Amino acid sequence: MKSMTLQKSIGDVIKELYNSTDEDYMGIFIIDKPVLLIRSPKLVKDILLKDFATFPDRCVVSPESKPLASNMMFFKKGPMWKAIRSKMTPVFTSGKLKAMSTLIAKEAEQLNEYIGKHCNKPNLEAKEICAKYSTNVIAICAFGVSAKCFESEDAEFRNFGRRIFEFSVANMIRHIGCFFTPNIIKLFQISFVKDEILNRLGDIFTEVLHFRKQQNQLKGNDLVDILLDVMRREDSGLNNDIIISQAIQFFVAGFETVSGVLSFALYELCINPDIQEKLRQEIQEITEKQGLTYDSIQEMKYLDMCVSETLRKYPVLPFLDRVCNSNYKLEGTDHVIEKGQSVYISMFGLHYDPKYFPEPHKFLPDRFRDKNSINQDGFYYIPFGEGPRICIGNRFGLMTVKIGLASILTKYRLCRSSKTPVPIRFQVKSLIVQSDVGIPLKFEPL
Ligand code: HEM
Repeated sequence: MKSMTLQKSIGDVIKELYNSTDEDYMGIFIIDKPVLLIRSPKLVKDILLKDFATFPDRCVVSPESKPLASNMMFFKKGPMWKAIRSKMTPVFTSGKLKAMSTLIAKEAEQLNEYIGKHCNKPNLEAKEICAKYSTNVIAICAFGVSAKCFESEDAEFRNFGRRIFEFSVANMIRHIGCFFTPNIIKLFQISFVKDEILNRLGDIFTEVLHFRKQQNQLKGNDLVDILLDVMRREDSGLNNDIIISQAIQFFVAGFETVSGVLSFALYELCINPDIQEKLRQEIQEITEKQGLTYDSIQEMKYLDMCVSETLRKYPVLPFLDRVCNSNYKLEGTDHVIEKGQSVYISMFGLHYDPKYFPEPHKFLPDRFRDKNSINQDGFYYIPFGEGPRICIGNRFGLMTVKIGLASILTKYRLCRSSKTPVPIRFQVKSLIVQSDVGIPLKFEPL
C-alpha cells in the first residue's frame, strides 16, 4: 500500500480507490483485511443513519489495559458507548456553548495580540498560531486551566499537543495502527496517545476536580462543571475514570481538529483575496453593531459558507469507518455484508467528486449558499461524520473556528509569503489531513 511506503497519505490512497470505479461500492484490501468501500451517498446514509443499529461501532481499537485511552467515547463500542454518549451530550447544548463563547472570545483576543507582536515577520506559521489558540480554548473549557500557550513557547499543554500529533514513525504506528492493524495494537498494547501524556493529563484533570469539589463553587461556564455534575448523579453509571477519559479525549479530539480547520481557512482566504475581502466586510458590518458574540457569529452567513467550504476541501478525518454487527443486505443490490466486516467511507472521495461539487479543487463558498440543498438524497458532505456517532464537539469546534477567524480578519489582512505552499500537499505520515510544510503566511495589520 502506497501509504505504508510513505508515497501517499492514507486519505489520498482511499480517495484514489474511490475514484477508480463508478460502482456504488467496491471491495478493497487494507493490509490483509477485506473491507467494503461504500461510494453511493444513498448507501452511506443507510449505513450511518437509517441502519445505524447494524453499524453502531467504529473498527478502531484501543487496548483495554490502558483505560484512560480505551474509555474514550471515540473507541467505545456497544452499550457502553451509548451510555457515555448520552451522558456527554448535554455538555454541548446551545446554552452551555453560549456560556463558553465568552471564554473563547477572550482567547481570540490573546490570539490577535500574539499575531500583533509577530506580524512584522515575513513568514508566520499559521498552523502553530492556531494550535496555540485552540489549545488554550480546550484547556480552559475542558480542564478549567489556563494553558498560556501565547506566553511561553514551551507551555505544557502545547507540548502535549505537539507530541501527540508530531510526524514520527512511532506516531504513525500508533495512529494508523489503531485503525488498520488491531491485532498489532492489541498484541503490543499500543494506545493512540503515549501513556505518559495520558497519565499527566489525567492527573491535571483530577487535581482540578478535587479543587472544584473542595471549593464547592461551580464556575458554571466550562466543561469541568458539567462533567462534575454528571459524576455527582448517582444514576449516571459512569465512574470517575470514565469521566476523566472524556476530558482527555476532548483535548485530543478538539485542539488539532480546530487548529487544522482554522489554519486551512486562513490559507484559502489568503490565496483568494476577493473572498477574504467579502468575508471581512460581513464580519465588520455585524461586529460594529453587535460586537463579537455567540449571537453575532450565528448571523454571519458568509462566514458559515467559507468554513463549510474549508471543511469540504480539508475534512480533518479523510475517511470514516464502521463495522457490521449482523449480516446486512445492501439495499437495491444482491450484496450481503457479513457480520464482522468493516466498511469505509471516503470523505475525500465524496468531497472531491465533481458529480456533487463541480470544479472540486476550487475554493467556492457559494456552493453552501443554500445549505438545505446539500445531502438531499444521501450523504456526500460529511466533515463531522453523520448519524448517532456524528462528532459530539461539532458545534463547539465550529464556534471556536469562527470566533478565531472573525477576530483575525477584523485586525489583519492575510497575504502570501515567499513560503506559502501553492498547492498544498498533504503530509503522508499523518492520519489526519495536514499540510506537509505547515501553513506559512504573512499577516498585515489593517
Ligand atoms: C472542527 C473540528 C472538528 C472536526 C472536523 C471533527 C470531526 C470528527 C469526525 C469526522 C468524527 C467521526 C464521526 C463519525 O464517525 O461519524 C468525530 C468524532 C468525534 N469528535 Fe470531532 N471533530 C472536530 C472537533 C471536535 C471537538 C472540538 C471535540 C471535543 C471537544 C470533538 C470530539 C469528538 C468525539 C468525542 C468524537 C467521537 C464521537 C462518538 O464516537 O460518539 N471533535 N469528529
